[in-house]
Amino acid sequence: MNLKNDLLLRAARGEKTERTPVWMMRQAGRILPEYRAVRAKAGSFITLATTPEMAAEVTLQPVDLLGVDAAIIFSDILVIPEAMGLPYEMAEQRGPIFPSTVNTTAQLDKLHIAEPESDLKYVLDAIKLTKLGLDGRVPLIGFAGAPFTIFCYMTEGKGSKTFSVAKKHLYADPEFSHLLLQKITDSTIAYLKAQVAAGADMLQIFDSWAGILSPDQYRTFSLPYIKQICDAITEVPLTVFAKGAFFARAEIGALNCSVVGLDWNMDITESRQLIPNKTLQGNLDPCVLYASFEQIRREVKKMVDLFGTQRYIANLGHGVYPDMQPDKVRCFIEAVKEFSS
Ligand code: CP3
Repeated sequence: MNLKNDLLLRAARGEKTERTPVWMMRQAGRILPEYRAVRAKAGSFITLATTPEMAAEVTLQPVDLLGVDAAIIFSDILVIPEAMGLPYEMAEQRGPIFPSTVNTTAQLDKLHIAEPESDLKYVLDAIKLTKLGLDGRVPLIGFAGAPFTIFCYMTEGKGSKTFSVAKKHLYADPEFSHLLLQKITDSTIAYLKAQVAAGADMLQIFDSWAGILSPDQYRTFSLPYIKQICDAITEVPLTVFAKGAFFARAEIGALNCSVVGLDWNMDITESRQLIPNKTLQGNLDPCVLYASFEQIRREVKKMVDLFGTQRYIANLGHGVYPDMQPDKVRCFIEAVKEFSS
């Protein structure tokens, strides 16, 4: 189907755009009262994420209510461990917990490579329903976690400031680490290809914990697996967002991806120099959205001036926080549209 607004895809492919496209990581979520109503009806995050009609509904909300130039499918990066045989729970206010973890070869051997058509059918169904609901208004983004970030949750079993259990394996048992990373990568490639077959117009890899690794470890345990994904996905444009991996920008820029996502610690001009041939996405500090309307507009103008309006997808430098006001979020989106036109 032809898209009525394909700014995101044109920017990703490096084609000319009449203005900069804008969307927000974590836009399908708790900032909107309309989301919280559906979430309350579902009763739990997991019920919401595994019920395609409801997942599609909350995916469409930011398109209707915020005016973003893309939808991102409502799901989570943790559906991959679940599909491999390691279920998670979402503790209210505290985040994800895995009742069992993978820390031995015996536990690793019990995992299987995800079969998206059966193990993740609910996400594929949600994508199909969302595409119907979008009716070509804006592109739909599919996503997955980077293998290293998924490895962190599967070994640690919960969120952590240091992920020292995960990092212990990298130093103490690199062989185990590579075997698990490869199994996650094989599952992720199958999953992303299935998302495209179901209708995803673009894909993003979230390496949320990239920043806890040294450059050497990043090159050994994260980049090679992201590279496999980039090389395997030839169907649609792909964004690599590696939070905190300022030290690896040039190497990420050399991957077979269309877009590199930046967090707010990464200097814009320096990033353009390090990644000269790719579209960049980002990178406003989400906390700017706590400031006044006037200040938000000033910061957005500064950002757009530094990136330039072309080969650029405006976003925050990480996800929007749940307590941010929808009016401030709309101010960010409107300001990007105004200053990049
Ligand atoms: O971007 C979107 O709007 C699409 C939906 C989406 C969710 N999670 C829904 C969600 C996406 C893209 C994710 C990705 C995700 N999940 C990441 C990578 C992005 C990042 O922020 O770095 C990570 C690390 C996770 C794992 C995860 N899921 C955590 C740590 C938490 C708890 C903390 C938090 O942000 O709430 C979740 C829960 C989660 N995933 C919620 C939502 C809307 C909140 C749960 C709820 O509604 O109660």
